[in-house]
Amino acid sequence: MDRYAVFGHPIGHSKSPLIHRWFAEQTGQVLTYEAILAPLDGFADSWLHFVAEGGRGGNVTVPFKEQAFALAQVLSKRAQLAGAVNTLYLDEQQRLCGDNTDGAGLVADLLRQDVLLEGANVLLLGAGGASRGVIQPLLDAGAARIHLANRTVPKAQQIAQLFDSRVSAGSYAEVPKERWHLLINATSSGLQGERPPLHEQHLEYCQLAYDMLYGAEPTPFLQWCHQQGVPQTADGLGMLVSQAAESFTIWRGVQPEVEPVLLKLRELLR
Ligand code: ATR
Repeated sequence: MDRYAVFGHPIGHSKSPLIHRWFAEQTGQVLTYEAILAPLDGFADSWLHFVAEGGRGGNVTVPFKEQAFALAQVLSKRAQLAGAVNTLYLDEQQRLCGDNTDGAGLVADLLRQDVLLEGANVLLLGAGGASRGVIQPLLDAGAARIHLANRTVPKAQQIAQLFDSRVSAGSYAEVPKERWHLLINATSSGLQGERPPLHEQHLEYCQLAYDMLYGAEPTPFLQWCHQQGVPQTADGLGMLVSQAAESFTIWRGVQPEVEPVLLKLRELLR
């Protein structure tokens, strides 16, 4: 049977095995998908061992996305721009290919929720890997402008420099006074029960506030946006399922349906 796996550290919490098993059931694909805890200094060895045992493809999560990027022999354009790989597979010549489906997953999830990306001004909070990976897909989907706000300003500036003049960067205190239509929290602040220190004036024109994190309860950022009157809020569970769907399509050539899997997963989180 064709084998797939997600590699991470930690990995016990990963929803990917469940998601891909549901996708396989739904599309009639015969495969196995497991979670592999790779040692912090042993991602490459884990992957090579998996392939030697017949592994066909994999997902990569924290903290190995940059190492997967370094290991891949062939990189997609979007993986190059993200500087990170979340999807690995072998092509017909047995070369290791690296792709990144995170940004496409976010865009798919925003479109699923009827967000208008064409011409949108996007305020993107945070300047880690999660932030960098979604910029080009948002631009490709029609975003007019993306501003990165981050506590550590040089990190945001370094990322902005990789893109054209539609992308800018600065501190939370100096966010330009624009009509921000879409706010995306790509920081890990929610994991500490916090929210980014953004001034509420930037929420005035916001149609949707999105947090890449997810959980049983709305994140502090989403709670705050809701209290401030932002009409629509969404967490990152849809992004998780949508990026998985993109990976599944790359491996199997069959596109699974996101919605039923998302509903089941949401039920499970409650
Ligand atoms: P990832 O690769 O998942 O994006 P990361 O590289 O560790 O993870 O980046 C985490 C991001 O969350 C950074 O932008 C970080 O801000 P700094 O670069 O200034 O450290 C941001 N972050 C984490 N905790 C935060 C908090 N409590 N408030 C605001 N930003 C926070």
